[in-house]
Amino acid sequence: MGSLQSLISFITPLFLLLLLGHCGESTQPPFSCDSSNPSTKSYTFCKTSLPITERVQDLVSRLTLNEKISQLVNSAPPIPRLGIPGYEWWSEALHGVANAGLGITLNGTIPAATSFPQVILTAASFDAHLWYRIGQAIGTEARAVYNAGQAKGMTFWAPNINIFRDPRWGRGQETPGEDPLVTGKYAVAYVRGVQGDSYEGGKLEDGHHLQASACCKHFTAYDLDDWKGVNRFIFDARVTQQDLADTYQPPFESCIKEGRASGIMCAYNRVNGVPSCADYNLLSKTARGEWGFQGYITSDCDAVSIIYENQGYAKTPEDAVVDVLKAGMDVNCGSYLQNHTQKAVEQKKLGVSEIDRALHNLFSVRMRLGLFDGNPVQLPFGNIGPDKVCTIENQDLALEAARNGIVLLKNSDRLLPLSQTTTLSLAVIGPNANSSKTLLGNYAGLPCKSVTPLEGLQRYVKNVIHHPGCNAVNCSSAAIEEAVNIAKGVNYVVLIMGLDQTEERESHDRLHLVLPGKQQELITSVARAAKKPVVLVLLSGGPVDISSAKYDKNIGSILWAGYPGESGGTALAEIIFGDHNPGGRLPVTWYPEEFVKIPMTDMRIRSEPSSGYPGRTYRFYKGEKVFEFGYGLSYSNYAYNFSSVTQSKFHFQLNQPSKATQTPEAKLVSELGEKLCERKKFSITIGIKNNGKMAGKHPVLLFTRKEKPSNGSPVKQLVGFQSVKLNAGESAEVGFVLSPCEHLSRANEVGLMVIEPGLHFLVVGDEEYPVSISI
Ligand SMILES: *[C@@H]1O[C@H](CO)[C@@H](O)[C@H](O)[C@H]1NC(C)=O
Ligand SMILES: *[C@@H]1O[C@H](CO)[C@@H](O)[C@H](O)[C@H]1NC(C)=O
Ligand SMILES: *[C@@H]1O[C@H](CO)[C@@H](O)[C@H](O)[C@H]1NC(C)=O
Ligand SMILES: *[C@@H]1O[C@H](CO)[C@@H](O)[C@H](O)[C@H]1NC(C)=O
Ligand SMILES: *[C@@H]1O[C@H](CO)[C@@H](O)[C@H](O)[C@H]1NC(C)=O
Repeated sequence: MGSLQSLISFITPLFLLLLLGHCGESTQPPFSCDSSNPSTKSYTFCKTSLPITERVQDLVSRLTLNEKISQLVNSAPPIPRLGIPGYEWWSEALHGVANAGLGITLNGTIPAATSFPQVILTAASFDAHLWYRIGQAIGTEARAVYNAGQAKGMTFWAPNINIFRDPRWGRGQETPGEDPLVTGKYAVAYVRGVQGDSYEGGKLEDGHHLQASACCKHFTAYDLDDWKGVNRFIFDARVTQQDLADTYQPPFESCIKEGRASGIMCAYNRVNGVPSCADYNLLSKTARGEWGFQGYITSDCDAVSIIYENQGYAKTPEDAVVDVLKAGMDVNCGSYLQNHTQKAVEQKKLGVSEIDRALHNLFSVRMRLGLFDGNPVQLPFGNIGPDKVCTIENQDLALEAARNGIVLLKNSDRLLPLSQTTTLSLAVIGPNANSSKTLLGNYAGLPCKSVTPLEGLQRYVKNVIHHPGCNAVNCSSAAIEEAVNIAKGVNYVVLIMGLDQTEERESHDRLHLVLPGKQQELITSVARAAKKPVVLVLLSGGPVDISSAKYDKNIGSILWAGYPGESGGTALAEIIFGDHNPGGRLPVTWYPEEFVKIPMTDMRIRSEPSSGYPGRTYRFYKGEKVFEFGYGLSYSNYAYNFSSVTQSKFHFQLNQPSKATQTPEAKLVSELGEKLCERKKFSITIGIKNNGKMAGKHPVLLFTRKEKPSNGSPVKQLVGFQSVKLNAGESAEVGFVLSPCEHLSRANEVGLMVIEPGLHFLVVGDEEYPVSISI
């Protein structure tokens, strides 16, 4: 993304001086329509009593063609004659306000922001309300950064809601995992939180300002970065209509329809031949038309130039510009539109109305953010000060998210929790034991503080010996003998292993699923030498094949801690020493190493038994697994029952013959009609009891499965989840409302949802409840 740096437009102090009309400092946030400036306050676009559409129309009508074109890129320059400051569209806030884009600096009054766990770990809590609270905290901190004059924009390019389709994906860590329902619910919760909506949604409908703007990315079917020479810029994702309909698209549909996100980012890759940013059907017909999207659409960085330069999809640079603007994209991360739009207009390939359309979306979002309403100090979010960043509450929330996400994968003979005896001696071994960088994952800002696993454990035990064991996470060389000797001399050993950004990251997918280099050898040797079975902790975003540790009797316990954020070490230590009862559950399938024989480029979610293609994710993959989606132990055992199900026999009758031809008796959900679907909704109450000796927070996952899955039906399907807190011995009930049209249906081959007759089961833990459908 080096080409971007040259076009960064900074708001010079001189400009701010003119704009603010007083002694400007770079600590002032940039805004338009200063009421103390007589020439700007008379503009129609500054009249806050008018509807935004009208204000934007006025603003756009005042711009020259050059000015218009200048606004089509992420670093939009100021328009001083209208009192409009520059605007930077590119900011990041994946798991906390970050300085990873160009909009945010963390070098002034506010030097840091709360660094929540990387998303894949937060997802493992299966707690939508927690996700919402994290979004809220991020949105509030973002406003504080803006108010402190450290933000040149309030548009954040998160969440990343692509399906974690392949375990090797370097950016899987950024996502909520492999399940479309979880990913969609994460998107909705995060977006509502960041944008300042209520948890239930709807608060922003009546013209409330956006607290900050969130962006659903990367639209769509983007989940390969760089694998064996195939990179995201040239990759053409071949995706079936069926997989699009019930795997790739649902998170985006939720993000937009329910979350009301004000941004979308179109992806680098092509989908079935068409670059996402040049796909009218995707951007205009589906997102804006069908889903009612209102907001701006940005390209991924330099994604317009690659349409001509790498993909050869456009024959000239001007054609690429025309393609994206006509498709409905509004702003280009990069400089391509700045460079080539003028010529496209001169060549009469592009009407100015297409540019105006894009500008309308762009300035609408800036206005919804309250950046054209005069000095923001007087506006609802204007009083959010630097003291709202890194608050005790937000930092506790980061700790809570880490605690609730960490997954206990193995606990033989109840090795964990370790007892809190002060005389204990502990060895903490591994390349991730004391790395504050590994804790954060990618797209991180500067954390308020940092507690590594070693530091967390040191708070419980005085006598701790630390050794990294490897030269680096790649473990190309290991100090096995030293580590073994240390292990022999202590009561307990905790190994802190796994991956980091050198192994999995943007532009870098893994080739293998086993631990890198000599890590496995180190683990086995240390475990064999230790006095007692050891505790193995894995920091990683993507899954790791640790089959050998799973079956090694010298390894008593295994914990997966994702990249747990600034307080990750505290959370881990609390779990290891029993101050917190782990309850996280895996948001992705952990495949064995042999899975890597499947080309990462094969986008099919569904299996194809005839050719040996195993399919992907728990919904379709039936092969061997190291750990399943939804797997996770606890120090407590929980028992479930179906305490009530309001209806278990559903009859759907149609007057006309169905048009769903592939399965003769299947009915298209669209033919049943909304009213009938609404009438068929039913309620399920699940009883749950904590049979353990510790209080715990436990996510209840409700699945459905078909007795005889037809070709194209998932093995099972998550239809709801809720997290409940239960004291030792306590019981509770949780309720779900299901709609057969939505939850007992699937996509057919042309991407339409169908409902089929037959027996289904509701599944929670080992309990099943039959539900039948007849037509
Ligand atoms: C913060 O960083 C920005 C951008 O790199 C720079 O222009 C500015 O001078 C820095 N401010 C301080 C106080 O260091
Ligand atoms: C746009 O033009 C500038 C100046 O000529 C150049 O530095 C930049 O690389 C160009 N951008 C792209 C994406 O081609
Ligand atoms: C752990 O890392 C911190 C810095 O991040 C350092 O101050 C400390 O000495 C390290 N601890 C050990 C035992 O190496
Ligand atoms: C392993 O990491 C070290 C330290 O970052 C680096 O110097 C070395 O080149 C890496 N080795 C391999 C094989 O990647
Ligand atoms: C179901 O579980 C709840 C909670 O443990 C319990 O109160 C209830 O009696 C159980 N119901 C049935 C039908 O077993």
